[in-house]
Amino acid sequence: MKLVNYLNTNVMKLVKCIFCFCFLGSLSGFAQSDKIPHLKKQGTATQLIVDGKPFLILGGELANSSASSISYMEPIWSQLTEQNLNTVLLPVSWELIEPQEGKFDFTIVEKLISAAHQNNLKLVLLWFGSWKNTYSSYVPEWVKRDTKRFPRVLMKDGRPTERLTPLSSSNRDADAKAFASLMKHIRMVDTYHTVLMIQIENEIGVIPESRDLSALANTAFDSPVPEPLIDYISKHSDNIEPELHGAWVAAGKKTNGNWQEVFGKEPITDDFFMAWYYATYVDAVTKAGKAEYNIPMFTNAALIRPNYLPGQYNSGGPLPHSIDIYRVGAPHLDFISPDIYFSNFAYWAGRYNREGNPLFIPETYGGAEGAANAFFAFGKLNAIGLSPFGIDRMRMSSGTGATSYQSLLAGAYSTLQHLAPIILQKQGTDQLSGIVVEGSEQRSGKISFGGYNITVNWAGTGMPDAQNNPNRRIGIMFIQTDTDEFLITGSGSATLSFNPDSGSQIAGIASIDEEVLINGKWIWQRRLNGDENGQGQILRLGSNAVIYKVRLYRY
Ligand code: DGJ
Repeated sequence: MKLVNYLNTNVMKLVKCIFCFCFLGSLSGFAQSDKIPHLKKQGTATQLIVDGKPFLILGGELANSSASSISYMEPIWSQLTEQNLNTVLLPVSWELIEPQEGKFDFTIVEKLISAAHQNNLKLVLLWFGSWKNTYSSYVPEWVKRDTKRFPRVLMKDGRPTERLTPLSSSNRDADAKAFASLMKHIRMVDTYHTVLMIQIENEIGVIPESRDLSALANTAFDSPVPEPLIDYISKHSDNIEPELHGAWVAAGKKTNGNWQEVFGKEPITDDFFMAWYYATYVDAVTKAGKAEYNIPMFTNAALIRPNYLPGQYNSGGPLPHSIDIYRVGAPHLDFISPDIYFSNFAYWAGRYNREGNPLFIPETYGGAEGAANAFFAFGKLNAIGLSPFGIDRMRMSSGTGATSYQSLLAGAYSTLQHLAPIILQKQGTDQLSGIVVEGSEQRSGKISFGGYNITVNWAGTGMPDAQNNPNRRIGIMFIQTDTDEFLITGSGSATLSFNPDSGSQIAGIASIDEEVLINGKWIWQRRLNGDENGQGQILRLGSNAVIYKVRLYRY
């Protein structure tokens, strides 16, 4: 009897499993391609399309080890939704999915996808494969131990580092194989398209040397620069990044030669050389993954501190000066992304926001900075998304209300979520823009928008530089909804004044109304006049991401 029961239960389980597998497989296999997350141009913007509609990633990246445990994550999911995130960035590491060569275990991946879906969150997975912050700490132990089969980056003195070399095809193929298995599995199980995009590796590049000094690398360094790269540089010489162009011109615009002959003997040549090998390696991994499941994929850069040389910063990483090298060497990547931890956010974000490279910021600060930067990035730079790092370590502090560090970002995300349909409709057109006033030098900013010159001034008196001080930066988004009618929102203490951008008339404020979040609902609240808007002469902005409808007239 027991045996019969046992068989009944387990045979039924097996049948269910086979049915489920085939069902999920067939669903995803035959899913309409526009249901699968993909990128699409709209005007000058490139948008992420999710379930057939454009989507803004209001994200946050988990600390590195949080998602390695389902039980550790259990209480965290609801904290993430409380912070108004719609997407979580979390690592999936090679060591956890392929603990023994060829034996894959996707239990954790399935559980993470399912938990995210249950919490109404989307995911961007970070493939911690061959590299994480230049190191190879996330490769499986069987890779770590076999340094012969999986060779390392070597130092000047011949000592190995704990970094796989990107010049080895056996490193590349093992990574690509594991990643392809992961993507195949995601295609089969992710019927709700919870996984939106994949980051390939994390902050790649070499330190502390400026390049790999193994024999393999030395031979490649003395060999001719690959033809497709030189070809691209000579054909697009008007449109390539100045550092690469400058080095090529200074070395005599050669169309053949080894790396130093073509780009000169400065340290940056080592960086270009490594960039080519990282790009082609990452491309092979991406290509293998996309062959299984084709969703957007990108790789991210650790940026450069002022005056740092290659090797002091991640040499060969997807930095702005190597964007063209990545374009030629990694055609399967959809874009490259900056992790922005510097206060000149506009400069770095701007360098990654160029034709053919939409802006997505997988790591940055949260709090007041993140809030202000989000309004600027989505408004001015048509960003696909933004994601403060260590989001699970930033708890909403109770009692301190709208000024607590994390609630500033949560407030901004709530506003952006509410405005997302109109932002997405206007991205790529001239009816959406933004400004950021940042750094200790900038006291004001100007923007020309919708027929007006708008001046933004600090409203606060001091210029404190604590990271959680809302007065440190101002970020504003402008949406034109009609002639002389605008929605304006942002973060930071500022006053805005308006002037027509042509003619001798004066701009007057016809009306300012505020829309605020009350008990979870956005409602039109007050008509602002008198002291609240400088007797009808200015718009005052605070740090709490209120939405203002501003109507102007001319007299
Ligand atoms: C940047 C890395 O990409 C992250 O994984 C993490 O290590 C942070 N730095 C820590 O600040």
